[in-house]
Amino acid sequence: MIRVNENYKKLKASYLFAEISNRVSEFQQNNPDKELIKLGIGDVTKALPDSCIKAFHKAVDEMAADSSFMGYGPYEGYGFLREAIVRTDFESRGLEISENEIFVSDGAKCDSGNIQELFSNDIEVAVQDPVYPVYVDTNVMAGRTGRWENGRYEGLIYLDSTEKNNFFPELPDKKPDLIYLCFPNNPTGTAATKEQLQKWIDYARENRSLIIYDAAYESFIRDREIPHSIFEIEGAKEVAIEMRSLSKTAGFTGTRCAYTVIPDECTAYNPDGTPVSLKKMWLRRQSTKFNGVSYPVQRAAEAVYSPQGQKEIRILSDYYLKNAGIILTGLKKLGYTCTGGKNSPYIWVKAGIDSWDFFDRLLTESGIVCTPGSGFGKCGAGYIRISAFNSRENVIRAMDRFISYPV
Ligand code: MLT
Repeated sequence: MIRVNENYKKLKASYLFAEISNRVSEFQQNNPDKELIKLGIGDVTKALPDSCIKAFHKAVDEMAADSSFMGYGPYEGYGFLREAIVRTDFESRGLEISENEIFVSDGAKCDSGNIQELFSNDIEVAVQDPVYPVYVDTNVMAGRTGRWENGRYEGLIYLDSTEKNNFFPELPDKKPDLIYLCFPNNPTGTAATKEQLQKWIDYARENRSLIIYDAAYESFIRDREIPHSIFEIEGAKEVAIEMRSLSKTAGFTGTRCAYTVIPDECTAYNPDGTPVSLKKMWLRRQSTKFNGVSYPVQRAAEAVYSPQGQKEIRILSDYYLKNAGIILTGLKKLGYTCTGGKNSPYIWVKAGIDSWDFFDRLLTESGIVCTPGSGFGKCGAGYIRISAFNSRENVIRAMDRFISYPV
């Protein structure tokens, strides 16, 4: 008899953004005349940069002739893209990352969900709360947690990120083996300083833990003292893996391209304490289960790292950051307490009532879609997240329609 992975039974029925999408579709069916403004899932609305489009077209044309056609590519990604990434994202900041430490993929979501396969099932896992649900759900699927009890999974270590600690978690009493950190944070929009991150790196080195650092939103950082990469922190290469994405940076949510950095010195351990290279393990995993990102997409991604591409993506992130500023100012005027929206495209808003109740009211009364904070964890209860990824016009209209506080 074919049996199911019972761990799936511990999960909530739907993935957070699937649940929102279902509720919105139902609402739209019942209210076909109501025009909605979607500030829920962080999905970009502006077209791909011009230089990407040109490179994309050119690569598609190459695929049309036998002489320039490309079949399977390297599992780690094409050299031309990995070199461009190293030069632009790391060398330019004085960081020594080599091309062979870069693994190109089709998304930071996939990488951050898949990476846990490299580790033993009995490790202790720590996640920020609130947190991007992928880290939690994939560890649940793998069987690293107990049941869902009072808004949390048994066996996970939750790192509370609340108003009290300015949404930056303290070091836990119980020592985790695997720690997921995301900065600028999804969902709270908090950016971490070097000093704050140094504490976590020192802690990981002391305890032989590993940090999965999700830097998907680094292109929205504007404060000079905020690090863009975990590798700006001393000692990080031994204990951290970084994930980056072109989704929000360059409008690739539908095009799909991201990368993961696993430094040579980054290891996990055998039971006898001997170190094992995570880079080698990840290559083994990727070459078995993944055949790479398509050639035209990698050429389009390469164009992001050209001088012209860099100018164009800066215009994109500036645009969304200006939206974030409009939302932040608008919500504060309406009486809300908010965080984020500065080095981040997300605004974390104290709703004053249950997150899903707020979601429903905002949807039905104002025709605005947000993300309920409780979907990101227990500490997100009573909050909502507003995304700045929409047109300027829609953001301004949304602020005109928004319900004031107290709701
Ligand atoms: C979000 O809205 O949190 C993200 O867009 C979801 C994702 O990147 O998968």
